[in-house]
Amino acid sequence: MKNKKKLYEGKAKILYKGSEPDTLIQYFKDDATAFNNKKKGQIPGKGVLNNFISELIMTRLKEINVPTHFLRRLNMREQLVKKLEIIPIEVVVRNIATGSLVKRLGIEEGKVLSRPIIEFYLKDDNLNDPIISEEHIIVFDWASPNELEEIISLSSRINDFLTGYFFSINIRLVDFKLEFGRFWKSDEASILLADEISPDNCRLWDLKTNKKLDKDRFRQNLGEVDKAYKEVAYRLGVLSEKEFKKVIKNDL
Ligand code: ADP
Ligand code: TMP
Ligand code: ASP
Repeated sequence: MKNKKKLYEGKAKILYKGSEPDTLIQYFKDDATAFNNKKKGQIPGKGVLNNFISELIMTRLKEINVPTHFLRRLNMREQLVKKLEIIPIEVVVRNIATGSLVKRLGIEEGKVLSRPIIEFYLKDDNLNDPIISEEHIIVFDWASPNELEEIISLSSRINDFLTGYFFSINIRLVDFKLEFGRFWKSDEASILLADEISPDNCRLWDLKTNKKLDKDRFRQNLGEVDKAYKEVAYRLGVLSEKEFKKVIKNDL
């Protein structure tokens, strides 16, 4: 589609008006940010890899009846999604203690949790995405009690499924962040999984070596960032090395 109408440009993606009613195009950039935009950089090919990885994961989730915004991939960097009213909460699911959990609570790095923890953060860059409780969500009307129940239930199902899925390709799903939104039909809203699931918003460790295969390589200056994203894509089977090279040559 030529001359698409740009609706929003975020840190990692651009949203354009979709070709069909109630749709958007998500364009995946190579830009990477960390620490609320304080660290900025580029990961060559990241946009292409995340577009393919997120397509695969959203498709698998749809197959187990997790409702998602994903409609179809349009090209190397774009996918068509249902336009949602985003719920301003970042849902973080944790299986292993690391990151802000370890910093905030002094928990031992790498501790396998006795059960997954679900946390909520307010999606507000000006406030640095503060951690919030279920009470805050209800009292400040960010989601209704029924919506919150649905979000927790879906997050838990997604974690159970993805933990096994990544395990099958020798990757430990350490933690990840989800976003949800409301899809309005007449006067009724249903909750759908939004945004993306990719090494940008998951922590993925190699099962045998614990090598980080995600955006922590960028956050912590560990090097070989693009190589890690490619490794995840290749193990998931969404692209082979040969296909990726061809794709990058003919990039948009
Ligand atoms: P950010 O806004 O944090 O910089 P991105 O660069 O990834 O993040 O931008 C993508 C934006 O699109 C996010 O703000 C996300 O909440 C929003 N979004 C994701 N999926 C949908 C959707 N289906 N409908 C509307 N907005 C969406
Ligand atoms: P944290 O340990 O820094 O709180 O991160 C938890 C998970 O959420 C981790 O998989 C990275 C992801 N995440 C995002 O996707 N976006 C963010 O802005 C932050 C802070 C974390
Ligand atoms: N949301 C963070 C940022 O805005 C990125 C991250 O750490 O994942 O820079």
